[in-house]
Amino acid sequence: MGATTIHICQECGFQTRKWLGKCPECGKWGSLVEELEARPVPRPGVPAGARPLPYPEIAPSDAERSSTGIAELDRVLGGGLVPGGVVLLGGEPGIGKSTLLLQTASRMAETGRLVLYASAEESAAQLRLRGDRIGVRSRQLMVLPETDVDAIVAQARETQASVLVVDSIQAVRCADLAAVPGSVSQVRECAARLLALAKSAGIPLLLVGHVTKDGALAGPRLLEHMVDAVIHFEGDRHLAHRLLRSLKNRFGPSDELAVFSMSESGLCGVTSPSEMFLAERPLGAPGSVVLPAMEGTRPLLVEVQALVGEPVQGSPRRTALGVDPNRLALLLAVLERRTGRSLANRDVFVNVTGGLVVEEPGADLAIAAAAASSLEGVPVPERFVLVGEVGLTGEIRAVTRIDARLREAQRLGFVGAIVPASATLPAALDGLTLHPVRHLEDALATALAAPRGGSWSAGSLARR
Ligand code: TYD
Ligand code: MG
Repeated sequence: MGATTIHICQECGFQTRKWLGKCPECGKWGSLVEELEARPVPRPGVPAGARPLPYPEIAPSDAERSSTGIAELDRVLGGGLVPGGVVLLGGEPGIGKSTLLLQTASRMAETGRLVLYASAEESAAQLRLRGDRIGVRSRQLMVLPETDVDAIVAQARETQASVLVVDSIQAVRCADLAAVPGSVSQVRECAARLLALAKSAGIPLLLVGHVTKDGALAGPRLLEHMVDAVIHFEGDRHLAHRLLRSLKNRFGPSDELAVFSMSESGLCGVTSPSEMFLAERPLGAPGSVVLPAMEGTRPLLVEVQALVGEPVQGSPRRTALGVDPNRLALLLAVLERRTGRSLANRDVFVNVTGGLVVEEPGADLAIAAAAASSLEGVPVPERFVLVGEVGLTGEIRAVTRIDARLREAQRLGFVGAIVPASATLPAALDGLTLHPVRHLEDALATALAAPRGGSWSAGSLARR
């Protein structure tokens, strides 16, 4: 480490030799802090002095994956842990990060691997309290209450651990820097040292990272670029279920979602989340629509609710929870202009139940139908699903993975699906009748006119 110093933006990680009042990168004032110049950050996966290889000589990499012992976590990681792979688990305090990693560590230890759990936030006794609740027993799980990153690295080498967990990256510190734990320079330096260990010893590293109130990972953005995978634990702490989402994954698909429920004895993977999210759905209620959404590679049935009414006072309110407010505004405008439903002077509230966030445009039709259903006081048949993107002329546009979505609806006993006519539709799905539509008007006519229970016969509206 040289004596030269550098100024680093605490907000975005921008670096400059001379001090500036305002960061030219992110525009934040007073965010540049003088620090010891950091060493170059190791680039994971790319050995120094690499040579070009003929393509067929590249060794396939998926052979060496090892299970975390928790199937749903494996799925989010794209099949398990990779030797030398670094995973960052982010989430708000109290969401269950330590619980998940302790459970994982315990399961891996039970298969005979030596797992080192470095706890920089909690004492061994505190960890034991949690461990007893979730039934940890294995002697192969070694707990190291330590905040010094070099001591953690040394212990990992000495014990020849086959997996390392560090809880959390904001709580470990490196003695060479005077900065406080959790600061940009500390987080970066500690992560770099742990990464170097993971890469050189070829062991998987699981890092816990805290999240600030606005949902970003605390510390420099650089951390997200340094690691191989970023997974995020989210959900309402007042609800029993938690969502685990992959935001980045060098070894597998990103955007993968797993659902866990928090019980007395730790976290349990939910194997059929659709069933869980629809469990409390009101049947036959206007404004409730089931959307076959895609979360990563998996279809997930979710309930979209809308409430349309006279404004309680003053100008009408538009509230969107779990859907993009701009998208909602657009859909309400299309409903108004293309189907003649008057919404301009009404309150509109839209919510995706279960604390889920639906971002895909394929949710458009369900949102629009929920609003129209509430406006007219007519329920959509309870065993119907609706999916499709709505264009500005009111046209219904195709969505991805229609086959997987419809199969999930069929599996859960749905009998009707209003789908884009332009999509490549599967030939036949036992028990599930498809209603292909080209325009929002047609979709709403089908959804809001069908008899209750949704017993439309096949093809009755297929050729509108
Ligand atoms: P924790 O893993 O400590 O969260 P984090 O590391 O993300 O801060 O989990 C905290 C919450 O989980 C705490 O409020 C208690 C609850 N919990 C259970 O409900 N059941 C359990 O078996 C365990 C271990 C925790
Ligand atoms: Mg914790």
